[in-house]
Amino acid sequence: MLTHRHRALLRVLRGSLFLLSLLTFGWMTVELPRAATQGASQSNTVTTTTSQSSQSSTTDSNLVNQAASKQTNTVDKTNLEKALNSAKALTGHLSDYATISQTLLKTAISNGEILDKSTKFSQTDIDQQTKVINTTIDKMVKRNYDANRYDSVPVGYNNQNQLDTEGAPIQAHGGGVIQTTDPSNGQPIYYWVGEDKSHNNAFFNGINLYSSKDLKNWTYVNTILKPDANNSALFDVIMERPKILYNAKNKQFVVWAHWERQGNYSSSQVAVATSSQAGGEYHFLGHWRPGAGTDSKYRNWGVKLLNSDSKTDTQTTAFYDDGTKLNDYQNVTKDTDNWGTPSRDFTLFQDGSDAYIISTESGTTMRIYKLNADYTDVDKTAMKSYELFTNARREAPAVVKAGDYYVIATSQQSGWSPNQGRYSYTKDITDPNGWKVTTTQNSAGEDINTPFGLLGDNSTYHSQPTNILKVNQNGQTNYIYMGDSWLPSTIGESGYIWLPLKISGLEGNSPQVSMDYTPDWSIDTLSGKLDVPNYPLLSKNKPATSKGGKRC
Ligand code: GAL
Repeated sequence: MLTHRHRALLRVLRGSLFLLSLLTFGWMTVELPRAATQGASQSNTVTTTTSQSSQSSTTDSNLVNQAASKQTNTVDKTNLEKALNSAKALTGHLSDYATISQTLLKTAISNGEILDKSTKFSQTDIDQQTKVINTTIDKMVKRNYDANRYDSVPVGYNNQNQLDTEGAPIQAHGGGVIQTTDPSNGQPIYYWVGEDKSHNNAFFNGINLYSSKDLKNWTYVNTILKPDANNSALFDVIMERPKILYNAKNKQFVVWAHWERQGNYSSSQVAVATSSQAGGEYHFLGHWRPGAGTDSKYRNWGVKLLNSDSKTDTQTTAFYDDGTKLNDYQNVTKDTDNWGTPSRDFTLFQDGSDAYIISTESGTTMRIYKLNADYTDVDKTAMKSYELFTNARREAPAVVKAGDYYVIATSQQSGWSPNQGRYSYTKDITDPNGWKVTTTQNSAGEDINTPFGLLGDNSTYHSQPTNILKVNQNGQTNYIYMGDSWLPSTIGESGYIWLPLKISGLEGNSPQVSMDYTPDWSIDTLSGKLDVPNYPLLSKNKPATSKGGKRC
């Protein structure tokens, strides 16, 4: 029987034959790759062709890709090299800068150098990396250490007012927070993972990890997953909404993220990485759709634009990370038993030693799977996955256990724009019919199962849910709603709306979930005491007046 690897080898051989025939018919001019002919600084305009016979690893998918994007690929690296020079000029005094600035700059330089030396990247890749380097330079922050900058939880639309202990804006968007115990003193320690968007763009620029003891002041620890131009699973991709779990059984931290190739959301996969230390080096396990078989055929593929340099061509094709084409892409959506089900916005939820992934399966519906004992994949035998909120177009899930209830917060699907949050609950997370919903019908007569209750105001206080943290301390239990306040045109400045979440009525049959906008609240993580100031809404109960049409 042919394995996936054999098939890949055959494809490579077929590709080489195709290449040979192209050369024989003289369709393209042959020029040696730039590195072989020129020094980095000699000429910035490099002509590469698809027929580099010296590159034995060339596959047919590369050919398809390159042939589609014109037969000759002319790339200009002038600006990339300028940006690299400016970035390298800073490396002499890096220690003046906040640690996150140092890490981002080093990563931007390292990827820039890979692109500069290689002939395989498109002009779009080169321009994009040039922008990453320039934006990283612009956003470098001088180190200004203050371990106790905040005495309440900083809440706001803009992360320029939510700084880490070194004074740099916190870059942990779409994130997740867990509580663990500091082994040195038995006190709680919190870890927050989230997306780095300091480059002001949606594509993957890193997943950062911060730590805190008081939930007010956060220290940047590390960028635990970085873009890597040498690894196609970590470059030109989108990685969103990372979540972290701690697996006590094998003492591993496990991070999941929503994974896509840049340019479209059709791959709809998760990426998983593990580490023995929260802020340590993470081992990347790959990316796939939840429920995918373990055969390599079903993993590490993605849907990308056939011609990423074209402004008009939106045709997509699926490729494995090694560049081979995924020929039976049509089967992916039909054969979900083997390929798994699509997964976009998601959350992880830990319930004792069990854990679950709840994700937006498609434009319309969500799905829950149970995770395996290591939390590194779903376990289809432990629980049959099921759909929830059918046809309700929900996303941005966050789940917490309150009393006997599992409570979920979600948003409507509206891109970066906030909308009315809603909540639902169930006493049995394994029961597809347990969640409290309001059912209506769409025009096709199908059920729309909308989560039952409204959460916050009609924009969820200008936020989209990403996590609910349960703080259990000294016999007191508090819940913290964590949302992203996206600023689409300066996405890297998006802020964090964290608010106390009130969950009441847990003894009865209809718990209520609510939150008010109270910016100056705090929690004592040692005593467990929540301090929410009485913050009267000043406009409340005042009559609305206007002065003769003048703006006042
Ligand atoms: C939102 C989603 C975000 C991001 C954004 C892109 O709906 O919650 O995580 O994917 O769309 O437009």
